[in-house]
Amino acid sequence: MTTVELVRNARRARRYARAPYSNFLVGAALEGRGGRVYTGCNVENSTYGLTVCAERVAVWKALSEGASTFRRIAVVADTEALTPPCGACRQILWEYCGDIEIILANLHGATRTYRMAELLPAPFDGSFLKEQ
Ligand code: THU
Repeated sequence: MTTVELVRNARRARRYARAPYSNFLVGAALEGRGGRVYTGCNVENSTYGLTVCAERVAVWKALSEGASTFRRIAVVADTEALTPPCGACRQILWEYCGDIEIILANLHGATRTYRMAELLPAPFDGSFLKEQ
């Protein structure tokens, strides 16, 4: 799948965003190593705190369908400055997807690609728990 196609998947998923509180719609498309794509959108809740970001929805969908290795994730929002994953999503993406590519995009065709290691330097992960 091309980058443009992956971004298109994220953009399509964004249409399903349930964001009545923030009106900030986000879509994500996570590509597994085998080429399968798992999409996600943000799903908000009236308690606010139970809101789940598009990226995490995509990761939970992928894991719950048996995927375990990943290549890239595309994230789409309607902002001039491209919307990056929040801190919680960076932790989850690092833990379950490793040093994948993060492709940020908006609705006007702007894109920028990062690696997870750039977005989450000096990460905490399970390796520290084995040191004690
Ligand atoms: N949001 C995402 O889904 N992904 C991001 O990368 C940034 C923030 C959502 C969470 C919430 O529903 C709304 O955007 C405003 O923060």
